[in-house]
Amino acid sequence: MSCPIGNSNGQDAAQQGEVLGAEVGMLYGEYLQLDKILSSQRMLSHSDKHPVHDEHLFIVTHQAYELWFKQIIFEVDSIRDLFDEELIKESNTLEILKRLNRITLILNLLVDQVPILETMTPLDFMDFRDYLSPASGFQSLQFRLLENKLGVKTEHRVRYNQNYSHVFGTDAEAIEALQRSEQDPSLSDLVQRWLERTPGLEKDGFDFWDKFQASVEKLLKEKEEQANNEESEYLKNYRLMDIQKRRDVYKTIFDPKVHEALVARGERRFTYKALQGAMMISFYRDEPRFSQPHQLLQLLMDIDSLITKWRYNHVIMVQRMIGSQQLGTGGSSGYQYLRSTLSDRYKVFIDLFNLSTFLIPRHYIPELTLEMKNTLTHSKSAKTSECIDEEENNAASNGLK
Ligand code: HEM
Repeated sequence: MSCPIGNSNGQDAAQQGEVLGAEVGMLYGEYLQLDKILSSQRMLSHSDKHPVHDEHLFIVTHQAYELWFKQIIFEVDSIRDLFDEELIKESNTLEILKRLNRITLILNLLVDQVPILETMTPLDFMDFRDYLSPASGFQSLQFRLLENKLGVKTEHRVRYNQNYSHVFGTDAEAIEALQRSEQDPSLSDLVQRWLERTPGLEKDGFDFWDKFQASVEKLLKEKEEQANNEESEYLKNYRLMDIQKRRDVYKTIFDPKVHEALVARGERRFTYKALQGAMMISFYRDEPRFSQPHQLLQLLMDIDSLITKWRYNHVIMVQRMIGSQQLGTGGSSGYQYLRSTLSDRYKVFIDLFNLSTFLIPRHYIPELTLEMKNTLTHSKSAKTSECIDEEENNAASNGLK
């Protein structure tokens, strides 16, 4: 933060600070309430005969994380507000991109911050670990809220962590905030609603999904023909088996019943229509109106990746500090519990990662009709698009659309 008034380099600056402070009514420390923040490092080991130097780092690191969690939640909430509209203005899409990008930069910082705490040795940690028990990051309300607001569902969590009451049981405010964060539409819910409105999915319009299915069928038929022409029986059978496997994989997206079964098992999260929207955007990302939506989907994956990286760095640090056979101060199995949170069940946007499974070579991608090409090029003519400009929005609110 650039602040001309708080930089007291010598008397002049201090005097200047006083003058400015009098004018604007507040100084750097007051504005930032540093008295509260900087007096919040209460080292429990220092009340003992053997103060532990590294407890200071331990406290400051956790506090820094919590501040950044707060900022991320602030951004996620604002993005959810922007998404929670029937029609998203193009200017809002830019703002959403900017804020998502900011979140990824903060998460990068949080991932990179772990090695700083790893400069503390396990022996040093042991010196003060008993003081902090039963406190644990497991009780980080903000971390849980963040997971819920992004879209981690209770039923996808490791069983040990499916019930808040044994962690936050006596804290009614925390329980209420957690319940609200579960009930309100998560970022994932809102993104799905937006994807469902992707222009080009309309059955009576471009009907992307039918065209895509036809392309896949054509591709597999051609591959089958090639396989049948193989001279070697072994190679032929191998190729045909491979094609059958591909067919089964495509069935999981073309047969709505199979899709629903995967959703019920928690292996797929997106609604059928949202999945189609995401697929369409990834195929036609070079079209001007899909460029921002495509970037947005990339950023959502980045967020998932970075949180998984943080979980991974944290679990490695935990193993280094307490090994893999000690319980955590929060009462879990420690390392074993944390390792299980690295699974795909904790990835909110897993379906975006898995889109690559269903890609087809460029020349099989269904060609855009002239009308569709026009829709994806000029925002003003895109009457069914979710990304509309100001003028169109007014028209929409006037009932013209
Ligand atoms: C010496 C360093 C650390 C150790 C040994 C440690 C240990 C643990 C353990 C064992 C758990 C599992 C829950 C339990 O306590 O039973 C846990 C959970 C957690 N810790 Fe740490 N931790 C450390 C640093 C941090 C830091 C710097 C943060 C930053 C905020 C943090 C945040 C969390 C969170 C959010 C959880 C819950 C994760 C989940 O349930 O998915 N921890 N930690």
